[in-house]
Amino acid sequence: MKTVYLETFGCQMNELDSELVRGHLESLGYGFTPRPDDADVLLFNTCSVREHAESKAYSRVGIVGKRKKAGENLILGVLGCMAERDGIDMLRRYPQIDLLCGPGELDKLPMLIDNVVRTAAQASPSADDVQDRVALAGNTSRRSAALSATADDLETLDLARAFDPDRATSGVRSAYVRITRGCNKFCTYCVVPYTRGAEVHRPPDSIVEECQRLAASGVIEVTLLGQTVNHYRYTHGVAVTLDGREQPQIGPGLSAFRNEPVGDANLTTFAKLLARIHDEVPELARIRFLTSYPKDFGGDVLEVMASRPRICRYLHVPVQSGSNRILKLMNRGYTVEEYLEFTDRVLEVLPDASIAGDIIVGFPTETDEDFELTKQLLRRVPFKNNFIFKYSPRPGTTAIDRFEDDVPLEVKKLRNNELLTLQAEIGAAVHADWVGREVDVLVERITNRSPANAETASAADSRISLGSGLTSRSTASVRDPELAVQVSGRTSGDLITVFEVPSRVEAEQLLGTIIRVRIEGSGPLLLRGRMIDSAPAP
Ligand code: 5AD
Ligand code: SF4
Repeated sequence: MKTVYLETFGCQMNELDSELVRGHLESLGYGFTPRPDDADVLLFNTCSVREHAESKAYSRVGIVGKRKKAGENLILGVLGCMAERDGIDMLRRYPQIDLLCGPGELDKLPMLIDNVVRTAAQASPSADDVQDRVALAGNTSRRSAALSATADDLETLDLARAFDPDRATSGVRSAYVRITRGCNKFCTYCVVPYTRGAEVHRPPDSIVEECQRLAASGVIEVTLLGQTVNHYRYTHGVAVTLDGREQPQIGPGLSAFRNEPVGDANLTTFAKLLARIHDEVPELARIRFLTSYPKDFGGDVLEVMASRPRICRYLHVPVQSGSNRILKLMNRGYTVEEYLEFTDRVLEVLPDASIAGDIIVGFPTETDEDFELTKQLLRRVPFKNNFIFKYSPRPGTTAIDRFEDDVPLEVKKLRNNELLTLQAEIGAAVHADWVGREVDVLVERITNRSPANAETASAADSRISLGSGLTSRSTASVRDPELAVQVSGRTSGDLITVFEVPSRVEAEQLLGTIIRVRIEGSGPLLLRGRMIDSAPAP
Protein backbone atom coordinates (compact mmCIF):
# COMPACT_ATOMS: atom_id res chain seq x y z
CA MET A 1 0.00 0.00 0.00
CA LYS A 2 1.16 3.53 -0.67
CA THR A 3 2.50 6.05 1.81
CA VAL A 4 1.05 9.53 1.74
CA TYR A 5 2.47 12.95 2.64
CA LEU A 6 -0.31 15.51 3.11
CA GLU A 7 0.48 19.20 3.59
CA THR A 8 -2.17 21.78 4.42
CA PHE A 9 -2.17 25.46 3.51
CA GLY A 10 -4.61 28.12 4.70
CA CYS A 11 -7.53 28.10 7.05
CA GLN A 12 -9.14 25.86 9.68
CA MET A 13 -11.62 24.63 7.08
CA ASN A 14 -8.65 23.19 5.19
CA GLU A 15 -7.22 21.66 8.36
CA LEU A 16 -10.51 19.87 8.90
CA ASP A 17 -10.67 18.76 5.25
CA SER A 18 -7.16 17.33 5.59
CA GLU A 19 -8.08 15.47 8.76
CA LEU A 20 -11.08 13.93 6.98
CA VAL A 21 -9.03 13.02 3.91
CA ARG A 22 -6.44 11.39 6.13
CA GLY A 23 -9.06 9.39 8.04
CA HIS A 24 -10.69 8.29 4.79
CA LEU A 25 -7.41 7.18 3.18
CA GLU A 26 -6.21 5.47 6.37
CA SER A 27 -9.44 3.49 6.56
CA LEU A 28 -8.59 2.23 3.06
CA GLY A 29 -5.14 1.10 4.15
CA TYR A 30 -2.91 4.05 3.16
CA GLY A 31 -0.07 4.92 5.52
CA PHE A 32 0.97 8.51 6.32
CA THR A 33 4.37 10.08 6.83
CA PRO A 34 5.37 13.55 8.00
CA ARG A 35 8.39 13.49 5.65
CA PRO A 36 7.83 14.20 1.94
CA ASP A 37 10.96 12.21 1.04
CA ASP A 38 9.44 9.02 2.46
CA ALA A 39 6.14 9.30 0.57
CA ASP A 40 5.04 7.99 -2.80
CA VAL A 41 1.81 10.01 -2.85
CA LEU A 42 2.21 13.75 -2.17
CA LEU A 43 -0.97 15.74 -1.60
CA PHE A 44 -1.13 19.51 -1.14
CA ASN A 45 -4.38 20.83 0.28
CA THR A 46 -4.20 24.39 -1.01
CA CYS A 47 -5.65 27.84 -0.29
CA SER A 48 -6.47 30.62 -2.78
CA VAL A 49 -7.47 33.36 -0.38
CA ARG A 50 -4.18 35.24 -0.86
CA GLU A 51 -1.52 35.04 -3.53
CA HIS A 52 1.19 34.28 -0.99
CA ALA A 53 -0.37 30.92 -0.03
CA GLU A 54 -0.65 29.99 -3.70
CA SER A 55 3.01 30.81 -4.41
CA LYS A 56 4.08 28.63 -1.51
CA ALA A 57 2.07 25.70 -2.82
CA TYR A 58 3.47 26.16 -6.34
CA SER A 59 7.02 26.08 -4.98
CA ARG A 60 6.22 22.70 -3.36
CA VAL A 61 4.81 21.49 -6.68
CA GLY A 62 8.10 22.56 -8.31
CA ILE A 63 10.16 20.53 -5.85
CA VAL A 64 8.09 17.39 -6.49
CA GLY A 65 8.41 18.03 -10.23
CA LYS A 66 12.20 17.90 -9.95
CA ARG A 67 12.04 14.62 -8.05
CA LYS A 68 9.78 13.15 -10.71
CA LYS A 69 12.13 14.32 -13.47
CA ALA A 70 14.97 12.62 -11.63
CA GLY A 71 13.07 9.36 -12.05
CA GLU A 72 11.18 8.97 -8.77
CA ASN A 73 7.84 7.25 -9.14
CA LEU A 74 5.54 9.65 -7.30
CA ILE A 75 1.89 10.65 -7.42
CA LEU A 76 1.29 14.37 -6.97
CA GLY A 77 -2.19 15.68 -6.14
CA VAL A 78 -3.40 19.24 -5.67
CA LEU A 79 -6.49 19.45 -3.48
CA GLY A 80 -8.59 22.35 -2.26
CA CYS A 81 -9.26 25.86 -3.50
CA MET A 82 -6.36 26.23 -5.96
CA ALA A 83 -7.45 23.11 -7.79
CA GLU A 84 -11.00 24.43 -7.95
CA ARG A 85 -9.95 27.92 -9.05
CA ASP A 86 -7.35 27.03 -11.69
CA GLY A 87 -9.15 23.95 -12.94
CA ILE A 88 -7.87 21.54 -15.53
CA ASP A 89 -5.62 24.24 -16.94
CA MET A 90 -3.29 23.54 -14.03
CA LEU A 91 -2.60 20.06 -15.40
CA ARG A 92 -1.44 21.59 -18.69
CA ARG A 93 0.81 24.14 -17.03
CA TYR A 94 2.25 21.71 -14.47
CA PRO A 95 2.47 18.28 -16.10
CA GLN A 96 3.99 16.88 -12.91
CA ILE A 97 0.55 17.18 -11.24
CA ASP A 98 -1.34 13.89 -11.51
CA LEU A 99 -4.68 14.75 -9.97
CA LEU A 100 -6.88 17.68 -8.98
CA CYS A 101 -9.59 17.57 -6.36
CA GLY A 102 -11.76 20.55 -5.35
CA PRO A 103 -12.82 21.14 -1.74
CA GLY A 104 -16.35 19.96 -2.48
CA GLU A 105 -15.23 16.68 -4.04
CA LEU A 106 -12.83 15.27 -1.45
CA ASP A 107 -14.87 12.10 -1.01
CA LYS A 108 -13.73 11.16 -4.55
CA LEU A 109 -10.01 11.37 -3.76
CA PRO A 110 -9.34 7.61 -3.31
CA MET A 111 -10.94 6.99 -6.71
CA LEU A 112 -8.72 9.65 -8.29
CA ILE A 113 -5.58 8.11 -6.83
CA ASP A 114 -6.66 4.69 -8.13
CA ASN A 115 -7.25 6.18 -11.56
CA VAL A 116 -3.74 7.65 -11.63
CA VAL A 117 -2.25 4.27 -10.74
CA ARG A 118 -4.35 2.58 -13.42
CA THR A 119 -3.42 5.13 -16.11
CA ALA A 120 0.27 4.82 -15.24
CA ALA A 121 0.01 1.10 -15.89
CA GLN A 122 -1.38 1.68 -19.39
CA ALA A 123 0.87 1.89 -22.40
CA SER A 124 -0.98 4.84 -23.98
CA PRO A 125 -3.34 6.86 -21.80
CA SER A 126 -6.31 8.48 -23.59
CA ALA A 127 -7.79 11.96 -23.18
CA ASP A 128 -10.56 10.47 -21.05
CA ASP A 129 -7.97 9.30 -18.57
CA VAL A 130 -7.10 12.91 -17.82
CA GLN A 131 -10.77 13.60 -17.00
CA ASP A 132 -10.68 10.62 -14.65
CA ARG A 133 -8.01 12.32 -12.57
CA VAL A 134 -9.96 15.50 -11.95
CA ALA A 135 -12.87 16.10 -9.56
CA LEU A 136 -14.03 19.71 -9.51
CA ALA A 137 -17.38 21.40 -9.00
CA GLY A 138 -16.25 24.21 -11.29
CA ASN A 139 -17.93 23.38 -14.56
CA THR A 140 -21.38 23.52 -13.09
CA SER A 141 -23.11 26.73 -12.01
CA ARG A 142 -22.99 27.74 -8.34
CA ARG A 143 -26.63 26.86 -7.94
CA SER A 144 -26.45 23.40 -9.44
CA ALA A 145 -23.16 22.77 -7.64
CA ALA A 146 -24.92 23.57 -4.39
CA LEU A 147 -27.81 21.32 -5.27
CA SER A 148 -25.54 18.43 -6.05
CA ALA A 149 -23.60 19.17 -2.86
CA THR A 150 -26.70 18.42 -0.88
CA ALA A 151 -27.03 15.06 -2.54
CA ASP A 152 -23.41 14.07 -2.78
CA ASP A 153 -21.22 12.07 -0.49
CA LEU A 154 -19.40 14.93 1.19
CA GLU A 155 -21.83 14.70 4.06
CA THR A 156 -20.81 11.07 4.41
CA LEU A 157 -17.19 12.13 4.59
CA ASP A 158 -17.98 14.47 7.49
CA LEU A 159 -20.05 11.82 9.23
CA ALA A 160 -17.69 8.94 8.55
CA ARG A 161 -14.70 10.75 10.00
CA ALA A 162 -12.30 8.17 11.36
CA PHE A 163 -12.33 8.34 15.12
CA ASP A 164 -8.83 7.86 16.37
CA PRO A 165 -8.97 5.29 19.17
CA ASP A 166 -5.75 6.75 20.58
CA ARG A 167 -7.20 10.24 20.74
CA ALA A 168 -8.18 9.97 24.39
CA THR A 169 -4.60 9.26 25.38
CA SER A 170 -2.77 11.25 22.71
CA GLY A 171 -3.31 14.61 24.38
CA VAL A 172 -5.06 15.88 21.23
CA ARG A 173 -8.52 16.43 22.56
CA SER A 174 -9.77 19.22 20.31
CA ALA A 175 -11.60 18.73 17.02
CA TYR A 176 -13.20 20.80 14.29
CA VAL A 177 -16.79 20.12 13.29
CA ARG A 178 -18.16 21.65 10.12
CA ILE A 179 -21.69 23.00 10.38
CA THR A 180 -21.85 24.98 7.12
CA ARG A 181 -19.98 24.70 3.84
CA GLY A 182 -19.48 27.50 1.32
CA CYS A 183 -20.41 31.17 1.50
CA ASN A 184 -23.14 33.39 0.05
CA LYS A 185 -21.64 36.74 0.97
CA PHE A 186 -19.56 37.69 -2.08
CA CYS A 187 -17.27 40.19 -0.42
CA THR A 188 -15.68 41.73 -3.50
CA TYR A 189 -12.08 40.69 -2.65
CA CYS A 190 -12.80 37.06 -1.75
CA VAL A 191 -12.52 33.83 -3.76
CA VAL A 192 -14.29 31.62 -1.23
CA PRO A 193 -17.83 31.83 -2.71
CA TYR A 194 -16.31 30.65 -6.02
CA THR A 195 -14.00 27.92 -4.73
CA ARG A 196 -16.21 26.51 -1.98
CA GLY A 197 -19.54 27.27 -3.61
CA ALA A 198 -22.88 28.29 -2.16
CA GLU A 199 -23.75 27.97 1.50
CA VAL A 200 -24.96 24.50 2.49
CA HIS A 201 -26.01 23.70 6.07
CA ARG A 202 -25.69 20.29 7.64
CA PRO A 203 -28.69 18.81 9.47
CA PRO A 204 -28.51 19.52 13.23
CA ASP A 205 -28.93 15.83 14.13
CA SER A 206 -25.82 14.94 12.13
CA ILE A 207 -23.83 17.68 13.82
CA VAL A 208 -24.92 16.71 17.33
CA GLU A 209 -24.24 13.06 16.54
CA GLU A 210 -20.74 13.90 15.31
CA CYS A 211 -20.05 15.87 18.50
CA GLN A 212 -21.28 12.93 20.60
CA ARG A 213 -19.01 10.51 18.76
CA LEU A 214 -16.06 12.84 19.14
CA ALA A 215 -16.76 13.22 22.85
CA ALA A 216 -16.99 9.44 23.20
CA SER A 217 -13.53 9.15 21.64
CA GLY A 218 -12.03 11.57 24.18
CA VAL A 219 -12.54 15.00 22.63
CA ILE A 220 -13.33 17.74 25.16
CA GLU A 221 -13.27 20.77 22.87
CA VAL A 222 -15.04 21.21 19.54
CA THR A 223 -14.75 24.18 17.21
CA LEU A 224 -17.77 24.55 14.95
CA LEU A 225 -16.73 25.78 11.52
CA GLY A 226 -18.47 27.86 8.88
CA GLN A 227 -17.32 30.79 6.73
CA THR A 228 -20.16 32.80 8.29
CA VAL A 229 -20.93 30.46 11.14
CA ASN A 230 -23.75 32.54 12.66
CA HIS A 231 -25.67 32.29 9.37
CA TYR A 232 -26.35 28.65 10.18
CA ARG A 233 -30.02 27.76 9.90
CA TYR A 234 -31.83 24.59 9.05
CA THR A 235 -35.52 24.30 8.15
CA HIS A 236 -36.95 20.94 9.14
CA GLY A 237 -39.32 18.82 7.13
CA VAL A 238 -37.98 19.88 3.74
CA ALA A 239 -35.39 17.28 2.75
CA VAL A 240 -35.66 13.87 4.35
CA THR A 241 -34.48 10.55 2.90
CA LEU A 242 -36.43 7.30 2.99
CA ASP A 243 -34.72 6.21 6.19
CA GLY A 244 -35.86 9.44 7.85
CA ARG A 245 -32.47 11.19 7.89
CA GLU A 246 -32.43 14.86 7.06
CA GLN A 247 -30.19 16.07 4.27
CA PRO A 248 -27.83 19.08 3.99
CA GLN A 249 -29.67 22.18 2.92
CA ILE A 250 -28.88 25.26 0.85
CA GLY A 251 -28.71 28.46 2.89
CA PRO A 252 -31.59 30.94 2.65
CA GLY A 253 -31.29 34.45 1.20
CA LEU A 254 -30.05 37.18 3.52
CA SER A 255 -33.61 38.46 3.97
CA ALA A 256 -34.18 35.41 6.17
CA PHE A 257 -32.16 37.21 8.83
CA ARG A 258 -34.18 40.41 8.73
CA ASN A 259 -37.47 38.97 10.04
CA GLU A 260 -36.04 36.53 12.52
CA PRO A 261 -38.72 33.89 13.25
CA VAL A 262 -37.07 32.99 16.54
CA GLY A 263 -39.99 31.01 17.89
CA ASP A 264 -40.36 28.86 14.77
CA ALA A 265 -40.16 25.24 15.91
CA ASN A 266 -39.47 24.16 12.36
CA LEU A 267 -36.23 26.09 12.27
CA THR A 268 -32.90 25.35 13.92
CA THR A 269 -31.07 28.67 14.18
CA PHE A 270 -27.41 28.98 15.12
CA ALA A 271 -28.45 29.85 18.70
CA LYS A 272 -30.60 26.72 18.93
CA LEU A 273 -27.83 24.57 17.49
CA LEU A 274 -25.32 25.90 20.04
CA ALA A 275 -27.77 25.22 22.86
CA ARG A 276 -28.44 21.68 21.61
CA ILE A 277 -24.75 20.80 21.41
CA HIS A 278 -24.13 22.27 24.86
CA ASP A 279 -27.07 20.47 26.45
CA GLU A 280 -26.88 17.15 24.59
CA VAL A 281 -23.10 16.64 24.78
CA PRO A 282 -22.25 17.37 28.41
CA GLU A 283 -18.82 15.70 28.05
CA LEU A 284 -17.64 18.66 25.97
CA ALA A 285 -15.86 21.10 28.26
CA ARG A 286 -15.57 23.68 25.49
CA ILE A 287 -17.63 24.62 22.47
CA ARG A 288 -16.18 27.28 20.18
CA PHE A 289 -17.14 28.56 16.76
CA LEU A 290 -15.47 30.31 13.81
CA THR A 291 -15.88 32.65 11.90
CA SER A 292 -18.70 35.03 12.79
CA TYR A 293 -20.12 37.60 10.44
CA PRO A 294 -20.69 40.90 12.27
CA LYS A 295 -24.16 41.39 10.82
CA ASP A 296 -27.15 39.17 11.59
CA PHE A 297 -25.64 38.09 14.91
CA GLY A 298 -28.83 37.85 16.94
CA GLY A 299 -29.25 38.58 20.64
CA ASP A 300 -30.45 34.97 20.91
CA VAL A 301 -26.88 33.70 20.31
CA LEU A 302 -25.48 35.97 23.03
CA GLU A 303 -28.22 34.83 25.44
CA VAL A 304 -27.41 31.17 24.77
CA MET A 305 -23.72 31.91 25.35
CA ALA A 306 -24.41 33.80 28.58
CA SER A 307 -26.55 31.00 30.02
CA ARG A 308 -24.25 28.15 29.01
CA PRO A 309 -20.79 28.35 30.57
CA ARG A 310 -19.17 25.67 28.41
CA ILE A 311 -19.62 27.81 25.29
CA CYS A 312 -16.36 29.69 24.95
CA ARG A 313 -16.24 33.44 25.48
CA TYR A 314 -14.52 34.02 22.20
CA LEU A 315 -15.69 35.68 19.01
CA HIS A 316 -13.71 35.96 15.81
CA VAL A 317 -15.61 38.67 13.92
CA PRO A 318 -13.54 40.21 11.12
CA VAL A 319 -14.26 43.90 10.55
CA GLN A 320 -11.89 44.24 7.52
CA SER A 321 -11.83 48.07 7.54
CA GLY A 322 -12.75 51.04 9.70
CA SER A 323 -13.89 53.16 6.74
CA ASN A 324 -17.52 53.01 5.67
CA ARG A 325 -16.53 53.92 2.12
CA ILE A 326 -14.15 50.93 1.90
CA LEU A 327 -16.63 48.59 3.64
CA LYS A 328 -19.11 49.49 0.93
CA LEU A 329 -16.61 48.77 -1.84
CA MET A 330 -15.88 45.47 -0.13
CA ASN A 331 -19.64 44.67 -0.12
CA ARG A 332 -19.48 43.81 3.57
CA GLY A 333 -23.06 44.90 4.20
CA TYR A 334 -22.51 46.80 7.48
CA THR A 335 -21.16 50.13 8.65
CA VAL A 336 -18.53 50.89 11.29
CA GLU A 337 -21.35 52.13 13.55
CA GLU A 338 -23.19 48.82 13.20
CA TYR A 339 -20.00 46.91 13.94
CA LEU A 340 -19.44 48.96 17.10
CA GLU A 341 -23.05 48.50 18.15
CA PHE A 342 -22.44 44.76 17.85
CA THR A 343 -19.16 44.63 19.82
CA ASP A 344 -20.65 46.87 22.53
CA ARG A 345 -23.61 44.49 22.80
CA VAL A 346 -21.24 41.51 23.08
CA LEU A 347 -19.25 43.08 25.91
CA GLU A 348 -22.40 44.14 27.70
CA VAL A 349 -23.82 40.61 27.74
CA LEU A 350 -20.46 38.81 28.07
CA PRO A 351 -18.03 41.18 29.82
CA ASP A 352 -15.23 38.57 29.80
CA ALA A 353 -15.50 37.82 26.09
CA SER A 354 -12.48 38.16 23.85
CA ILE A 355 -12.93 39.67 20.42
CA ALA A 356 -10.57 38.99 17.54
CA GLY A 357 -10.72 40.03 13.91
CA ASP A 358 -9.21 40.35 10.47
CA ILE A 359 -8.25 43.57 8.67
CA ILE A 360 -7.29 44.11 5.06
CA VAL A 361 -4.97 47.06 4.39
CA GLY A 362 -4.45 48.61 0.97
CA PHE A 363 -7.83 47.75 -0.53
CA PRO A 364 -8.17 49.62 -3.86
CA THR A 365 -8.58 53.41 -3.38
CA GLU A 366 -7.80 53.23 0.38
CA THR A 367 -6.53 56.69 1.33
CA ASP A 368 -4.58 57.84 4.38
CA GLU A 369 -7.91 59.08 5.78
CA ASP A 370 -9.54 55.67 5.32
CA PHE A 371 -6.55 54.05 7.01
CA GLU A 372 -6.76 56.57 9.86
CA LEU A 373 -10.40 55.48 10.40
CA THR A 374 -9.28 51.84 10.64
CA LYS A 375 -6.78 52.84 13.34
CA GLN A 376 -9.55 54.70 15.17
CA LEU A 377 -11.73 51.59 15.10
CA LEU A 378 -8.89 49.48 16.46
CA ARG A 379 -8.45 51.90 19.35
CA ARG A 380 -12.16 51.75 20.10
CA VAL A 381 -12.59 47.92 20.35
CA PRO A 382 -10.56 45.83 22.82
CA PHE A 383 -9.35 43.34 20.19
CA LYS A 384 -7.27 40.56 21.70
CA ASN A 385 -5.71 40.14 18.28
CA ASN A 386 -6.25 41.01 14.65
CA PHE A 387 -4.94 39.13 11.67
CA ILE A 388 -3.77 41.82 9.27
CA PHE A 389 -3.54 41.18 5.54
CA LYS A 390 -2.28 43.23 2.64
CA TYR A 391 -4.91 43.32 -0.11
CA SER A 392 -4.11 40.74 -2.75
CA PRO A 393 -6.13 40.88 -5.98
CA ARG A 394 -7.59 37.44 -6.67
CA PRO A 395 -8.54 36.28 -10.15
CA GLY A 396 -12.27 35.71 -10.53
CA THR A 397 -13.34 38.15 -7.83
CA THR A 398 -15.40 41.30 -8.39
CA ALA A 399 -12.69 43.53 -6.93
CA ILE A 400 -10.05 42.51 -9.47
CA ASP A 401 -12.45 43.32 -12.34
CA ARG A 402 -13.89 46.48 -10.88
CA PHE A 403 -10.99 48.20 -9.12
CA GLU A 404 -7.41 48.90 -9.93
CA ASP A 405 -4.96 47.61 -7.29
CA ASP A 406 -3.77 51.19 -6.86
CA VAL A 407 -2.25 51.22 -3.37
CA PRO A 408 1.49 50.67 -3.88
CA LEU A 409 3.02 47.65 -2.16
CA GLU A 410 5.28 49.92 -0.10
CA VAL A 411 2.22 51.75 1.29
CA LYS A 412 0.49 48.44 2.03
CA LYS A 413 3.58 47.29 3.92
CA LEU A 414 3.79 50.51 5.93
CA ARG A 415 0.10 50.34 6.85
CA ASN A 416 0.46 46.68 7.71
CA ASN A 417 3.37 47.38 10.07
CA GLU A 418 1.65 50.36 11.61
CA LEU A 419 -1.41 48.26 12.41
CA LEU A 420 0.73 45.45 13.81
CA THR A 421 2.35 47.91 16.20
CA LEU A 422 -0.99 49.41 17.20
CA GLN A 423 -2.56 45.98 17.65
CA ALA A 424 0.41 44.95 19.83
CA GLU A 425 -0.37 47.91 22.14
CA ILE A 426 -4.07 47.05 22.24
CA GLY A 427 -3.32 43.34 22.75
CA ALA A 428 -0.93 44.21 25.60
CA ALA A 429 -3.64 46.21 27.37
CA VAL A 430 -6.27 43.47 26.86
CA HIS A 431 -3.92 40.82 28.25
CA ALA A 432 -2.71 43.03 31.14
CA ASP A 433 -6.32 43.28 32.32
CA TRP A 434 -6.20 39.61 33.25
CA VAL A 435 -3.22 39.88 35.61
CA GLY A 436 -4.23 38.89 39.13
CA ARG A 437 -7.20 36.79 37.97
CA GLU A 438 -7.63 33.03 37.74
CA VAL A 439 -8.40 31.29 34.44
CA ASP A 440 -8.98 27.75 33.18
CA VAL A 441 -6.43 26.72 30.58
CA LEU A 442 -6.83 23.82 28.17
CA VAL A 443 -3.22 22.66 27.90
CA GLU A 444 -2.14 22.06 24.32
CA ARG A 445 1.60 21.70 24.16
CA ILE A 446 4.88 21.56 25.96
CA THR A 447 6.70 24.67 24.85
CA ASN A 448 10.00 24.32 26.63
CA ARG A 449 11.97 22.10 28.91
CA SER A 450 14.55 24.71 29.79
CA PRO A 451 13.07 27.72 31.62
CA ALA A 452 16.01 29.86 30.52
CA ASN A 453 14.60 30.02 26.97
CA ALA A 454 10.98 30.00 27.93
CA GLU A 455 9.99 33.46 26.76
CA THR A 456 11.41 33.16 23.27
CA ALA A 457 9.88 29.75 22.79
CA SER A 458 6.43 30.80 23.89
CA ALA A 459 6.39 33.82 21.62
CA ALA A 460 7.56 31.80 18.63
CA ASP A 461 5.04 29.15 19.43
CA SER A 462 2.03 31.40 19.51
CA ARG A 463 -0.17 31.31 16.44
CA ILE A 464 -0.18 35.04 16.06
CA SER A 465 2.42 36.72 13.96
CA LEU A 466 3.37 40.15 15.13
CA GLY A 467 5.86 40.76 12.38
CA SER A 468 9.59 41.09 12.80
CA GLY A 469 11.19 42.53 15.87
CA LEU A 470 8.26 42.14 18.20
CA THR A 471 8.48 39.50 20.84
CA SER A 472 6.47 38.97 23.95
CA ARG A 473 7.68 40.82 27.02
CA SER A 474 6.51 39.05 30.08
CA THR A 475 6.27 40.95 33.32
CA ALA A 476 6.68 37.83 35.46
CA SER A 477 10.36 37.16 35.48
CA VAL A 478 11.20 35.50 38.79
CA ARG A 479 11.99 31.85 38.16
CA ASP A 480 11.44 29.08 40.64
CA PRO A 481 14.09 26.31 40.36
CA GLU A 482 11.33 23.82 41.21
CA LEU A 483 9.57 24.67 37.94
CA ALA A 484 11.07 22.59 35.18
CA VAL A 485 8.84 22.49 32.11
CA GLN A 486 6.75 25.16 30.44
CA VAL A 487 3.42 24.38 28.78
CA SER A 488 0.97 26.50 26.83
CA GLY A 489 -2.74 26.41 26.21
CA ARG A 490 -5.76 28.65 25.82
CA THR A 491 -8.42 30.15 28.05
CA SER A 492 -12.12 30.04 27.27
CA GLY A 493 -11.58 33.44 25.61
CA ASP A 494 -8.79 31.99 23.44
CA LEU A 495 -6.05 33.88 25.30
CA ILE A 496 -2.79 32.00 24.95
CA THR A 497 -1.46 31.20 28.40
CA VAL A 498 1.94 29.82 29.35
CA PHE A 499 2.89 28.46 32.71
CA GLU A 500 5.58 26.33 34.22
CA VAL A 501 4.86 22.91 35.62
CA PRO A 502 6.27 21.94 39.02
CA SER A 503 8.89 19.21 38.64
CA ARG A 504 6.78 16.78 40.66
CA VAL A 505 4.07 16.86 37.93
CA GLU A 506 4.42 15.01 34.61
CA ALA A 507 3.90 17.74 31.99
CA GLU A 508 2.70 15.18 29.41
CA GLN A 509 -0.17 14.27 31.70
CA LEU A 510 -1.45 17.83 31.58
CA LEU A 511 -1.87 17.79 27.79
CA GLY A 512 -5.54 17.85 26.86
CA THR A 513 -6.66 18.70 30.40
CA ILE A 514 -8.02 21.90 31.86
CA ILE A 515 -5.86 23.48 34.55
CA ARG A 516 -6.60 26.40 36.83
CA VAL A 517 -3.92 29.06 36.51
CA ARG A 518 -3.34 32.33 38.39
CA ILE A 519 -2.24 35.02 35.96
CA GLU A 520 0.90 36.83 37.09
CA GLY A 521 2.14 38.52 33.95
CA SER A 522 1.25 39.32 30.37
CA GLY A 523 2.48 40.44 26.97
CA PRO A 524 0.84 41.67 23.74
CA LEU A 525 0.13 38.08 22.75
CA LEU A 526 -0.13 36.00 25.86
CA LEU A 527 -0.69 35.52 29.54
CA ARG A 528 1.84 34.04 31.91
CA GLY A 529 0.72 32.34 35.07
CA ARG A 530 1.22 29.85 37.83
CA MET A 531 -0.54 26.55 38.10
CA ILE A 532 -2.98 26.31 41.00
CA ASP A 533 -4.03 22.66 40.71
CA SER A 534 -1.28 20.22 41.45
CA ALA A 535 -3.02 17.40 39.63
CA PRO A 536 -4.84 17.54 36.31
CA ALA A 537 -8.61 17.78 36.45
CA PRO A 538 -10.29 14.51 35.43
N1 5AD B 1 -6.59 39.95 0.02
C1 5AD B 1 -6.21 40.09 1.30
N2 5AD B 1 -6.83 39.49 2.32
C2 5AD B 1 -7.89 38.72 2.03
N3 5AD B 1 -8.71 38.01 2.82
C3 5AD B 1 -9.61 37.38 2.05
N4 5AD B 1 -9.41 37.68 0.76
C4 5AD B 1 -8.34 38.52 0.72
C5 5AD B 1 -7.65 39.18 -0.32
N5 5AD B 1 -8.02 39.06 -1.59
C6 5AD B 1 -8.60 37.98 4.28
C7 5AD B 1 -9.85 38.55 4.97
C8 5AD B 1 -10.51 37.32 5.51
C9 5AD B 1 -9.32 36.42 5.80
C10 5AD B 1 -9.62 34.98 5.92
O1 5AD B 1 -8.48 36.64 4.70
O2 5AD B 1 -9.44 39.40 6.01
O3 5AD B 1 -11.28 37.58 6.67
FE1 SF4 C 1 -15.10 35.57 1.87
FE2 SF4 C 1 -16.79 37.45 2.72
FE3 SF4 C 1 -17.59 34.87 2.60
FE4 SF4 C 1 -15.80 35.63 4.47
S1 SF4 C 1 -17.94 36.35 4.31
S2 SF4 C 1 -15.67 33.79 3.13
S3 SF4 C 1 -14.62 37.20 3.37
S4 SF4 C 1 -17.02 36.18 0.86
